[in-house]
Amino acid sequence: MFENLQAPAADKILALMQMFRDDPRDTKIDLGVGVYKDATGNTPVMRAVKAAEQQLVDEQMTKAYTGLAGDPAFADAMIDLVLGGIVARDRIAAVATPGGTGAIRQALEFINRASPDATVWISNPTWPNHPSIIKYLGMKMFEYRYFDEDTRGVDFDGMMADLAPIATGDVVLLHGCCHNPTGANLTLDQWGKVIALVKDRGAVPMIDIAYQGFGDGLADDAAATRMVAESFDEVLIAASCSKNFGVYRERTGILMAIGRNPQEAKLAQGNLAFLNRQNYSFPPDHGARVVTTILNDPKLRADWEAELEATRLGMLELRQQLADELKRLTNSDRFAFIAQHRGMFSRLGTTPEKVEQLRVEHGIYMVSDSRLNIAGLNAQTVPILARAIVAVGI
Ligand code: LMR
Repeated sequence: MFENLQAPAADKILALMQMFRDDPRDTKIDLGVGVYKDATGNTPVMRAVKAAEQQLVDEQMTKAYTGLAGDPAFADAMIDLVLGGIVARDRIAAVATPGGTGAIRQALEFINRASPDATVWISNPTWPNHPSIIKYLGMKMFEYRYFDEDTRGVDFDGMMADLAPIATGDVVLLHGCCHNPTGANLTLDQWGKVIALVKDRGAVPMIDIAYQGFGDGLADDAAATRMVAESFDEVLIAASCSKNFGVYRERTGILMAIGRNPQEAKLAQGNLAFLNRQNYSFPPDHGARVVTTILNDPKLRADWEAELEATRLGMLELRQQLADELKRLTNSDRFAFIAQHRGMFSRLGTTPEKVEQLRVEHGIYMVSDSRLNIAGLNAQTVPILARAIVAVGI
């Protein structure tokens, strides 16, 4: 039977990771996959994570199964981190998932179960795995404009025009903060307008929040998600701990489903647990338990927040350095948007050919849509990148 298989289309982010590994040049610079790196190029285990893991090694007495939804304490801690108490707990169903991707997959399967004809609206561009999973599940999908290639900001008029025809029961997928791949984000005022439109049409918002704490801070990055959560009867929220806790390989995420009332939340909870059971039975626990330990221990939490904040400020500084260097070299403000963008990424807004040229001639790796990982830079590589951008004529 295997001969019937077709090779799946390569994921462009993962293909780039492999190309980088295969490149023998020691001057190569990886600005591809969204993984935080410190100034030495290392992706550190955060201090609070190490301490929590040590605590688990010392104190954990069993590795027996948790529940199908994962540890309830993880759900409580994450709901509080993301929603800050804005929605009554008994309206929220939640399951632990293998990473943010697991949460997105479960959210889409949940939608498919509840409303198989629903159309999912995604931003153009978005994280490539969004359309990939939607298509894989055979669901209907439309794109809405999001990025303005000229200003490198949000094309808000285009977004609102494209979302105008959404129908009752459609699902609008929005990035809670730090839009991937562009780094361009809606203002809270614009969020208000999107919320009004989606509400007016009777559509359901789905939030993907994978970078809370990487943009403007833990609370500010959750502000839009909280606005959405308090504005609708039904909301789906996929949250990832991969980046803000640096637990990428532990696969730690959560799907929250806010329902109209406690009865419907209970129904949602049963369906989410069922979906976990069908797909992988019990969700991974180690990363979730580490996160819970940190969030519930004031000292560990303070240390985690401090390290996360330092990470965030470091990325902002790199953004500013790159924008300044490009201003100096080009004698223009063309690249000022890099300092305005938030999160791990910025989209340069250039052609795949120029991106290819950066890779071939300068050993600089970024995703073909010209997304660059700011956290892949350091004080030494910022001027190298700036010179290369000018050299290839971006
Ligand atoms: C990214 O966008 O680079 C990350 O979310 C990693 C991934 O899985 O694609």
